[in-house]
Amino acid sequence: MKIQVKKGYIAAERSEAVVAGVFEDAKKLSGAAAALDWATGGLIMGMLKSGDFTGKLNKTAALYPEKELPLKRIVLVGLGKQKDFTRDKLRGAAATVARAVRDLGVTSMLLPLDFAHSGLSAQHSAQTLIEAISLGLYQFKEYKTKNNGNGDKSFKACTLLAGTAAELAAAKKGAAYAQAVSKAVCLARDLVSRPSNAATPSHLAHTAKTIAAQHGLVCTVLDKQQAKKTGMGAFLSVAWGSDEPARFIILDYKPSAKKTAPPIVLIGKAITFDSGGISIKPAQGMEEMKTDMAGGAAVLGAMQAAAALKLPVHVVGIVPATENMPSGHAFKPGDIIKSLSGKTIEIITTDAEGRLILADALTYAQRYKPAAIIDMATLTGACVLALGHAASGLMGTDEKLIKKIQAAAESTGEKVWQLPLYEDYGEQIKSDVADMKNAGGKPAGALTAGYFLKAFAGDIPWAHIDIAGTAWASKPLPYTPKGATGVGVRLLVELLEKWGNTAGL
Ligand code: BES
Ligand code: MN
Ligand code: ZN
Repeated sequence: MKIQVKKGYIAAERSEAVVAGVFEDAKKLSGAAAALDWATGGLIMGMLKSGDFTGKLNKTAALYPEKELPLKRIVLVGLGKQKDFTRDKLRGAAATVARAVRDLGVTSMLLPLDFAHSGLSAQHSAQTLIEAISLGLYQFKEYKTKNNGNGDKSFKACTLLAGTAAELAAAKKGAAYAQAVSKAVCLARDLVSRPSNAATPSHLAHTAKTIAAQHGLVCTVLDKQQAKKTGMGAFLSVAWGSDEPARFIILDYKPSAKKTAPPIVLIGKAITFDSGGISIKPAQGMEEMKTDMAGGAAVLGAMQAAAALKLPVHVVGIVPATENMPSGHAFKPGDIIKSLSGKTIEIITTDAEGRLILADALTYAQRYKPAAIIDMATLTGACVLALGHAASGLMGTDEKLIKKIQAAAESTGEKVWQLPLYEDYGEQIKSDVADMKNAGGKPAGALTAGYFLKAFAGDIPWAHIDIAGTAWASKPLPYTPKGATGVGVRLLVELLEKWGNTAGL
């Protein structure tokens, strides 16, 4: 989809479809809807009076002006009640109306900057709108041999219309930012959607190398032999069971102005398929375990966006990537392994593999003497039981870092909810024979996993985000089609952007 930003008056532009939002309870129309109503001699008010369309959130209606106007149709979307309106509802409404236009078979649309009269700055409006429609129109069609349904009617162009020269300049910035971020979210979605026979550890490494080549990052990839030499016993314990070559991927983005600054390290769990290993999972729903690399995908996406946007912050992305499979050379319950940190771990279940590969990544991260470490992982079913699919679980050792992540969650709509890391949880992962064990039983499963990771974070401010419930949508969401959400990319990029433009923690 081509995105253009220009200056103009909405009712005077030639267009296949103009879109606008309408609040449910407003006494009179505002923003783009008011201008369009005036130009059409009251067409929108007439429709509202009929009661056929009331402005209920995410309901749409198409109108066809009878007067001689350069616009062919107006597609309205309900914004719901004004007092309940949020930036995230704006995203949902913009995405919904873009899909409604696509479903009419129209291939271009005009999107006024004051689409919803949201009170956001011109730059933030543009960013929010372009991000929302790019994400809402996303489809994963790599494996469809025929272009069925909506696939035929793919969208060609969206023109964002600003009212003044100052708005135009600001909107251009917002739109460019949104395009880089949405591209990164779609990259993460593609990687998560691809099945494990395509999205292998080598495929992720190849993707990282491509990002590095395009944007001037340094990419280092360790194979099993190199990981063994380094001493990554926890990562390798998981990797031994699979015939698919494992990869430990490192991407370093160092903007020239920040050559000496300590980096932020982002770590993403990338189990390209989690069968559970010898502690094998039940067959039902196992296909969803191709998504167990969503943390790694989010980190790759965030690295790409940070570099594309030239954010003024040093960032290192670490993505330990392997399958978790049962086989004659797989690790087994009862085994004791030695991690890169030197700590020994008793394996209670081979299905608690994510924390093992993350443990070595956290230890490896210490080499960079980072300012902060954030890991993102589809880590526990227990987190899904606690928070469902609405929010990711957030844990950590540094309140300032937690606050920054919460602020980024708030402005991106990628909700997080903080969970505690009380010392009590440490009791559950004490081992009789090793330094710790890799599972702490049913109670507080998301927190014993978090507590396990904490042991490898050292003294560095660290946060862990459990995205097991948010990486995959089994029902469509307002700006996320059913399937991979790409969760985490927008949150991380927002955090890095704020970090770069302030003084860090
Ligand atoms: N990848 C899973 C967690 C998961 C569950 C992700 C559901 C997405 C949806 C993880 O490796 C796992 O199997 N965790 C176990 C840990 C347990 C054995 C201590 C779990 O949550 O059951
Ligand atoms: Mn598992
Ligand atoms: Zn897993």
